[in-house]
Amino acid sequence: MELPGALQQALEAELHHAAPKKLARTTSELSLRYRKDPSDGRTLIRNAADVRAYAAFRMPATFAAAYMVLEAVRTALPQWAPQTLLDVGAGPGTVMWAAAAVGWSFDSITLLEREAAMIDLGRRLAQKGEESIRAARWIKTDLSRDGHVSGHDLVTAAYVLGELNENTRQAVLERLWRNTRGVLAVIEPGTPRGFERIKQMRQRLIEQGAVILAPCPHDRPCPMEEGDWCHFAARVSRTRLHRLVKSGELAYEDEKFAYLAASRLPGGRANARVLRRPQVRKGHLVFTICTAEGIGTRIAAKSDKEAYRQARKLKWGSSF
Ligand SMILES: C[S@@+](CC[C@H](N)C(=O)[O-])C[C@H]1O[C@@H](n2cnc3c(N)ncnc32)[C@H](O)[C@@H]1O
Repeated sequence: MELPGALQQALEAELHHAAPKKLARTTSELSLRYRKDPSDGRTLIRNAADVRAYAAFRMPATFAAAYMVLEAVRTALPQWAPQTLLDVGAGPGTVMWAAAAVGWSFDSITLLEREAAMIDLGRRLAQKGEESIRAARWIKTDLSRDGHVSGHDLVTAAYVLGELNENTRQAVLERLWRNTRGVLAVIEPGTPRGFERIKQMRQRLIEQGAVILAPCPHDRPCPMEEGDWCHFAARVSRTRLHRLVKSGELAYEDEKFAYLAASRLPGGRANARVLRRPQVRKGHLVFTICTAEGIGTRIAAKSDKEAYRQARKLKWGSSF
C-alpha cells in the first residue's frame, strides 16, 4: 500500500530540505522512545525535527494500518456513510487521509492533537487534500485534560491511547465512546502489549453496550490463548526516502497492528475472521479463524472447486 499521491507529494516537499543523515538519527531516537512503550503520558514527539522524522518513517505505515481498519468497517457496513469524523491524537492527520481514501466523504472533520509542531505539519499537508481535508478543524488540546467535543459519526484513535496511563486511557475511552454516534475505531501497535490494551478496551466498551464490529465476530470473552496476541499486518511500500531513513533495502515492510471497531449501529458483524496469513499446502489451504465458538482451523481443499475459489480470496484479516 502507498500513500495517496497528493499526500506523498506534500510529504516529499516537506522533507525535501531535511538532511537524510539527521532525519535518520532523529528517526532512530524516536523509534527507541516508542519501543520502550512507556504508556505514562510522557511526550514522545517533542519538536519539529521529531515531527519530520515521524512523518517520514511512521506516517506511511500508520496510514496503511488505518486504511485497513477503516476498510474493515466499510466492508462491515457498506451502506453507512459517516458525515462527521473526530480523530484524536491525530498527529499529522494520518487517519483523516485514510478515511478519505476508503471512500467516505465528510461534512466535517475535527482533529485533536497536543503538539503544535504536529498540527503545523498536518495543516500544511492538508492543503493538498480534497475539500473536507483542507477544511478540517485542528484543535490543540491534551486528551487527558479535556477534549469536549460533541457527537461524531466516526471517532478514531490511532496509535495514541497507548501513550496514556491506564486510568487516563479508560476515562478517555469512555469519553470517546459517549461522543460516538456510529463507530469508534481504536488502533494500537500489533505487539503483545498493544493487544493487551485493545483487549481491555474491548471489554470496557462491551460493558458500556458497544457491539464489536471488527475484528471480533462476537462479544464473548476473547479466546486468544495466553502468550498469543491478535494482530494484523499491512504491507507498506517503502519510498526512496523511507529506505534511506530506515537504512534498509527491502521494497516494503509489514506494519503490524491490533485494533477494534465498536459500533452503535445495527448489523454488520461477520461470522468469522481470518487470524493469520493462510497457509498454502499441496492441494489445500489452511486457515486459522476466530468465530463465536472460539479459535479454530479450517481447510479448503482444491477438490471442492467452488469453496477453494472463494477461499483463495481470503487474506489475513478478511471476514466471511
Ligand atoms: C504515534 S502518534 C499517532 C499519530 C496518528 N494518529 C497516526 O496514526 O499517525 C501519537 C500522536 O498522539 C499525540 N498525543 C499523545 N498524547 C496526547 C494527548 N494526551 N493529547 C493529545 N494528543 C496526544 C502525539 O502528539 C502524537 O501526535
